[in-house]
Amino acid sequence: MRIVVNGSRGKMGQTLVAFAEEHSELEVVGEVGSGGSLAATLARTAPDVVVDFSRPEARMATVRTILEGNAAAVIGTSGFTGGDHAQIRQWVSATGKGCFVAPNFLIGSVLMQTFAQLAARYFDSAEIVEYHHETKVDHPSATALRTAELMAEVRSDYNRATCDAVASLDGSRGAEFSGIRIHAVRMPGFVASQEVLFGGPGQRLSLRHDSLDRTSYMPGVLLAARYIVDRAEFVYGLERILSLGLEQR
Ligand SMILES: NC(=O)c1ccc[n+]([C@@H]2O[C@H](COP(=O)([O-])OP(=O)(O)OC[C@H]3O[C@@H](n4cnc5c(N)ncnc54)[C@H](OP(=O)(O)O)[C@@H]3O)[C@@H](O)[C@H]2O)c1
Repeated sequence: MRIVVNGSRGKMGQTLVAFAEEHSELEVVGEVGSGGSLAATLARTAPDVVVDFSRPEARMATVRTILEGNAAAVIGTSGFTGGDHAQIRQWVSATGKGCFVAPNFLIGSVLMQTFAQLAARYFDSAEIVEYHHETKVDHPSATALRTAELMAEVRSDYNRATCDAVASLDGSRGAEFSGIRIHAVRMPGFVASQEVLFGGPGQRLSLRHDSLDRTSYMPGVLLAARYIVDRAEFVYGLERILSLGLEQR
């Protein structure tokens, strides 16, 4: 697959370029940074796929340029909203080129979210602990929140039996989303980890995912590129192609 990397000097872009050097299936035929012209690079290199890890502000212009430049798009850049989806579908249908947007390319993390939603049906008690490096500015993580949202789709009566009315220290039980407690740990020694804990009579289930470095995102990027390269579809979210039976829900 011949790819152009948009945002190639960034942290994710550099990781992808290095990953492609080790994987003969991917050939990087062009790299674009903030000062470059994506349209001119597409015209010059005619890639199969453009993988984009750049800036949220430019996300829609980037998608349009890629599809109108006759390439499929794999977009990791954050910031897409429900309102963007309809516009992207129009461009996909007009150009006949596919677009795959995934807010999370970590296969293990997406699987963990799906397993958590499944387990949520069977356990009354659930808490999420997420662990990140000390420079992460936001808390809780988007992954923790998304996990809680998916679990809340199943039920909203978590942790009813917990006797935690007396607080000796405010905040010690973490934040709360639909009854699910969420705890955010920030310290050196972590990249991105999450544990979802479920408790029931006489048993405990713990789902844990650890991302050790940015290469952990790359198998998900490759999976998305393989999927979208010859399909005129708009796909949002890696879970859509992980054969999890979500389409039946
Ligand atoms: N989907 C996922 O799983 C996932 C995982 C991690 C990160 N992300 C998202 O991916 C994006 C990039 O993350 P990062 O950590 O790699 O950020 P980063 O290190 O800041 O890199 C962003 C790169 O984009 C370049 N850039 C800015 N505007 C551009 C434009 N108009 N055209 C082309 N390149 C442009 C920048 O170029 P200069 O260096 O020249 O300024 C920079 O090198 C963010 O939105 C982040 O949230 C997604």
